Amino acid sequence: MVTEQPGNPLWHPFADMGAVDGDRMVITRGEGSYVWDDQGTRYFDATASLWYANFGHGREEITQAVSEQLRKLDSYNLFGYYANEPALRLAERVSALAPTPGSKVFFGSGGADVIDTAAKVARAHFFHTGRPEKVHLIGRTQGYHGTHGFGTAVGGIAANAVGFGPLPGPVSHVPYDSAEELEAEIVGVGADKVAAFFCEPVIGAGGVLLPPDGYIEAVAEICRRHDVLFVADCVIAGFGRLGTWFGIDRWPVQPDMITVAKGITGGTIPLGALIVAPRVAEPFFTGKPGAPILRHGATYAGHPVACAAGNATLDLYERDGLIPRGRELEKPLADALAGLAGHPLVGEVRAGLGFLAAVDLAPEVFAANAGAVGLWQRAAREEGLLMRPLAKGLAMSPPLIAGDTELDLLATGLPRSLDRLAKTLA
Ligand SMILES: Cc1ncc(COP(=O)(O)O)c(C=O)c1O
Repeated sequence: MVTEQPGNPLWHPFADMGAVDGDRMVITRGEGSYVWDDQGTRYFDATASLWYANFGHGREEITQAVSEQLRKLDSYNLFGYYANEPALRLAERVSALAPTPGSKVFFGSGGADVIDTAAKVARAHFFHTGRPEKVHLIGRTQGYHGTHGFGTAVGGIAANAVGFGPLPGPVSHVPYDSAEELEAEIVGVGADKVAAFFCEPVIGAGGVLLPPDGYIEAVAEICRRHDVLFVADCVIAGFGRLGTWFGIDRWPVQPDMITVAKGITGGTIPLGALIVAPRVAEPFFTGKPGAPILRHGATYAGHPVACAAGNATLDLYERDGLIPRGRELEKPLADALAGLAGHPLVGEVRAGLGFLAAVDLAPEVFAANAGAVGLWQRAAREEGLLMRPLAKGLAMSPPLIAGDTELDLLATGLPRSLDRLAKTLA
């Protein structure tokens, strides 16, 4: 049964609506590493939806936890002194896992929400510790930090900032792979003016760009030296994608703030969390009369149903040993893709750090056809593979439950999809 009628008012994110209308792919069911469309066709969800279905789809444990919570307390806010049991428990668990002991946890509705929270907390921290001029934010070229105000400004994918008028500033960007350039920018702007540096451990949406060896340690140290807050955006990297709880904890660094979302509930219910090192949160926790209040927070911050999903998700990760799999599977994934490097349509394969990868088309393929990535995504779909389009190629970030069968699907299906693409382009 086809459920889509042309002219449906549903407006999709990041979509050419003229092309999408009448051509929607309606996903109707999910189980494990697979989803089905409304034609009954099964696909390997090689992207774990949008980098988040880390335990796959259709886990009964989550359904149960969510429905029990809905029956007990379906909603209640966290403003002022209100709390709820799932939010208290999830905050304790996330804090206990965080690289910096005693971290505080501020919940939001998703990744962009907690990125904007991080930007405001950074500025507010300096404001309330006598350095109100420290407001400048630094991002990286190709960085992606969601589509709210600060995240759009700090993100380094230029096209995503076009057409929205003035964005929050001051903000600047440094090359994603150069710690030296970060230090030069901090010195150039003046360390006394810079509040925070935003850094994905592995850049996701901007192309699956791996950090050079030593980069993460170097930027963390540069931030520490110049009293610039180091914000690790682990919205993709967290919850096993890089084989650790947060992703950034693969490196011996202690970020001032960590943002997570997506995998915290396996994407089942929207939730984000900002993890704040105690020294950064300290001005707000002195307990002294007149201490500052963070006048910020979303209606659904710490929503009990979302946090119940989060607690059930953490249980699943622990029980099924899923967190280390992001590291265990990084080499098998790189091996499964290695053969693609020799394909005439392929420019570059990037893999080997965490269970995610990207394959770029060769520059001459774009030169000949600007829509080549979209056509390749289609061709992969014909092979039963759902892939994420990037500017130059396709990305994948399969569920952490994927195994040899699914890696074989990639190893055999992707070359075939490229052959299909070659025929289409011929
Ligand atoms: C690294 C990173 N940060 C932030 C976000 C924004 O998260 P959300 O889409 O949940 O707002 C994303 C989304 O893909 C992301 O990849």
